[in-house]
Amino acid sequence: MPLKVGLIGAGWVTQHHLKAWATLGDTARVVAIADPATERAAERAAAFGIPAVFARAEDMLAAGGLDAVDIAAPRAVHAKLVRLAAGYGLPILCQKPLAPTLAEAQALVAEIDGRVPLMVHENWRFRAYYRQAADWLRAGRIGRVKAAHLSLATSGTVPDGEGRFMALERQPFMRTEARMLVAEVLIHHLDTLRMLLGPLTVKAAALSRTCREMAGEDGAVIHLQSADGAGVSVFATFAAYGAPAQQSDRLMIAGDAGTLRLEDGHLSLSGPVPEPIAYDAETTYAGSYTGAIGHFVRCLETGAPFETGPQDNLETLRLVEDCYRLSGFEPRQGHTA
Ligand SMILES: NC(=O)c1ccc[n+]([C@@H]2O[C@H](COP(=O)([O-])OP(=O)(O)OC[C@H]3O[C@@H](n4cnc5c(N)ncnc54)[C@H](O)[C@@H]3O)[C@@H](O)[C@H]2O)c1
Repeated sequence: MPLKVGLIGAGWVTQHHLKAWATLGDTARVVAIADPATERAAERAAAFGIPAVFARAEDMLAAGGLDAVDIAAPRAVHAKLVRLAAGYGLPILCQKPLAPTLAEAQALVAEIDGRVPLMVHENWRFRAYYRQAADWLRAGRIGRVKAAHLSLATSGTVPDGEGRFMALERQPFMRTEARMLVAEVLIHHLDTLRMLLGPLTVKAAALSRTCREMAGEDGAVIHLQSADGAGVSVFATFAAYGAPAQQSDRLMIAGDAGTLRLEDGHLSLSGPVPEPIAYDAETTYAGSYTGAIGHFVRCLETGAPFETGPQDNLETLRLVEDCYRLSGFEPRQGHTA
């Protein structure tokens, strides 16, 4: 019997969720979808063969027949929806960020943790090149990590020839979120760096806004430190003139016995070790959703703990919160969600 899943939300990201659920064959099936934008929910239902469509998650859950829920609604309603699904005793996969602030997430976790299985959908760490990098680091292929640098630069919030901002066209909610680049995007990178390097502390953060159409930040320079004292820096901007509109991570981790590099989808190790491995961007992106969703289902089957369970995810949210706190960044007034 497949796991019967109810999907909450039918926005941009759910195309990727639904493609990933579809790869699981008879193991799991999305059998219902709920979104107040019912035409959007109906469109997803038609495209992915989902038999039941609801305007309200409350009604979908009350209708019964579900074994798990997948929450992909906006962050402002995550906590409310997690509480709702937990009230039905259902396992929950919830998109990041678990809640808009660390304090709200902590309150939610204190209430829910242990009552129902809860996994935060942190899919970045499931990208194939990051899994390979983690394997190499664990195997000691570069020795002890001394320093790391991760960067990403896009022109997503720079106006194109027609005055459009590609990142905002793709995800319009990015205009109004008071916490944007770190809470929405770099949360993934901070989570992935935690997976690769272990516990991290934010030492300093400078956040900036270039795009006048946005409430939140579109630039960030963050300095972190690992438990071993390695320095870690993150440089990210969506407002880089001349950069591509699409994101592409660059990472360098320097150890005392080698260097690991990710550049343009190529992962490589210094020294007499494998040739660089090339990763196709689209396959890797889709694979991250398949990896996260497959992990959720496998852990439900085996009872193994989720990699990104509530307690683990609070550590990522702590880093996010510290970036805002240490930077003192102020969102644009009168413009926020
Ligand atoms: N993991 C990733 O890589 C990734 C990528 C993009 C977005 N996200 C996350 O996914 C979530 C949704 O993002 P999106 O880009 O799809 O946003 P979106 O604005 O395109 O879609 C959100 C949808 O949720 C619906 N909604 C609002 N309130 C609801 C409710 N109470 N119940 C059910 N549906 C409700 C809206 O009508 C809308 O259709 C966010 O938390 C975002 O951070 C994650």
